Amino acid sequence: MLFRKKAAPAPDRLPRHVAVIMDGNGRWAKRRGLPRTAGHRAGAKTFETISRRANALGIDTMTFYAFSTENWKRPAEEVSALMDLFADYLRRIEQFQKENMRIRFLGDPAPLSDELRDLMRQAQEQSAGFTGTCVNLAINYGGRDEIVHAARQLAGQARDGILTPDAITEATLEQALYTGDCPPVDLLIRPGGEARISNFLLWQSAYAELYFCNTLWPDFGPDDLDRALAWFAARNRRFGGV
Ligand code: IPE
Ligand code: IPE
Ligand code: MG
Repeated sequence: MLFRKKAAPAPDRLPRHVAVIMDGNGRWAKRRGLPRTAGHRAGAKTFETISRRANALGIDTMTFYAFSTENWKRPAEEVSALMDLFADYLRRIEQFQKENMRIRFLGDPAPLSDELRDLMRQAQEQSAGFTGTCVNLAINYGGRDEIVHAARQLAGQARDGILTPDAITEATLEQALYTGDCPPVDLLIRPGGEARISNFLLWQSAYAELYFCNTLWPDFGPDDLDRALAWFAARNRRFGGV
């Protein structure tokens, strides 16, 4: 065939779990002379576009880093604009649920407002039975915080005689993480030009393929996702073997 389209990655080479560090909103806005919050609004649109694309491709799980345990260091106005964006999105969640996508949240919800926590709980409950892509939104998430939280949970079970220290295995620790039954991260994508993990999914990414690109998150489109997936499909994953 003369005009064959560039081949999409074969379905059996699709990652089961893709994690995305949504970075570069602030710089995107600055380049346009806009306030950082305008960048976050644009980034929220990208989040919706990319989740839809992942769902259309049949990716099992997508985890998006929306707010880290370190992001509280930002100016109060920026933090509150981000919280408003999360709430706005969750108020429109029905639209998203029509597409059969499941939504879950990773992180410690304790410091979030009652209203936001209610919206999160509702969205999670309403979509629990859906069979499309599972979209995890990491809000007030930190990889170290998550491991401490899991350790505390297991220590409590040991104290109560439910679990002996010897019975603590990689599997029991993994179960106690916010991600619970999610498959391990196969592909971690970080747009925005930085080559670091920033405390995201430390345990779950132990064997992830790491994909960094310079595109700022608001400019990251379905084609960029496809490019990352094609790159992933060409990796030789050895997991310590030969
Ligand atoms: C990512 O974009 C969004 C959050 C961390 C909430 P940034 O706000 O970090 O954008 P840059 O890195 O400043 O460009
Ligand atoms: C990581 O981005 C956190 C999120 C995308 C939510 P940051 O912009 O906070 O990361 P650093 O500060 O550059 O490491
Ligand atoms: Mg950043």
